[in-house]
Amino acid sequence: MPVENSRVKGLYKLSVQERLQLVATAADLSPKHIAALSQHGELDETAADRMIENVIGTMSLPVGVATNFVIDGKQYLIPFCLEESSVVAAASNMAKRCLEKGGFETNNDDPVMIGQLQLLGVKDIDLAEKNIADAKADLMAFCNDIPSRMIALGGGCKDIETRRLQTGLGEMLIVHLLVDCRDAMGANAVNTMAERVAPRIEALSDGRVHLRILSNLAGHRLARVRAVFTPEEMASDGTRKDGLHIIKGILEAHAFAVADPYRATTHNKGVMNAISSVALACGQDWRAIEAGCHAWTTMNNGQYTSMTSWEQDDDGNLIGSMDAPMAVGIVGGASKVHPAAQANLAILGVETAQELAGIMVCAGLAQNLGALRALSTKGIQAGHMKLHAKNMAVSAGAVDSEVDALAARIQGHEGHRSQTLVEQWLQEMRQE
Ligand code: MEV
Repeated sequence: MPVENSRVKGLYKLSVQERLQLVATAADLSPKHIAALSQHGELDETAADRMIENVIGTMSLPVGVATNFVIDGKQYLIPFCLEESSVVAAASNMAKRCLEKGGFETNNDDPVMIGQLQLLGVKDIDLAEKNIADAKADLMAFCNDIPSRMIALGGGCKDIETRRLQTGLGEMLIVHLLVDCRDAMGANAVNTMAERVAPRIEALSDGRVHLRILSNLAGHRLARVRAVFTPEEMASDGTRKDGLHIIKGILEAHAFAVADPYRATTHNKGVMNAISSVALACGQDWRAIEAGCHAWTTMNNGQYTSMTSWEQDDDGNLIGSMDAPMAVGIVGGASKVHPAAQANLAILGVETAQELAGIMVCAGLAQNLGALRALSTKGIQAGHMKLHAKNMAVSAGAVDSEVDALAARIQGHEGHRSQTLVEQWLQEMRQE
């Protein structure tokens, strides 16, 4: 049952402990639930309380490290933070399968974000566009005339573009500020610039600026990856014949995702299993990245499609590639204040935001290959079942050595494995 009354006055004024007590009473939480929320792992109460509003606790997720990644000639261990089994194992397994041809190659754009200004009521749009274009140098100088480390390091507003947009409420003029954010994700800097320059844009266009906000479709900040997988590496038994058969299945699965948004959504969910997990581990705004990546697939011909491309070269090798907007930062935001995010960035040893962006698309490509390979061979459940069986055993109440014994029985079972059945098996085991 939900709480009786969600209108709680002054919750923000209480301490974390007081808030937790209040919520625990309202939601009738058990001591076990209260203890779960009070356990602060690497993020202590004070740090958590500074990050968002009305904090009552923190919540942990596993961090697992994907192995075998060689990217642009450098070796990486990649931290993933997520709750789903098989993801880390699949990425590590696939990363190993492109080593013969040198691993992953990336090519990442400058870290340029878009700040949007929505102009309404402009009577002469042609004239407004001309005025803004003529004043571009002054406008950029004005945007960049703020004390900012990002600008001192060579970032800042680098260009200004206008777009005419037909909408349900008539034509609008949209102004894009193109801002090089260096090693920051850049949302704050871009939003500040958009708000600062708005009165000048109004004066030049004789219109009214309505919204002033960053676009999460970071189309000028793409990260690109390419990797080559030989048939022998793709094989289950090391033979070229088996590898070619598996590659054929992967290409057929990919064609399905390219053509069908229903399938593409699931296919891309698999890609984001890695990208979002690395983002979360490294304190990035994974919602922004998710939104940008999905939207980017529609930019070619308006249809939602696969984020990844798979093809075969004349030697039978499988070639995977992807480009995706990757708005990430290694200075500022949670990457700076969350101790585990800092530790995970230290594991990666990245020196620039672009390097992190490149790693994330490599992880995404490997993850996608893992899913396509499993789906087009033995199916996804076999891999999932290994850890899932342990979770089912624990959920059924198994403890200590019961967990492994029960998990083994679950894995060995051919038919449907329901939680009720697992509970029944546990009772049987205890009676033996
Ligand atoms: C599950 O988290 C991800 C997959 O569904 C991805 C896919 O279908 O390609 C296995």
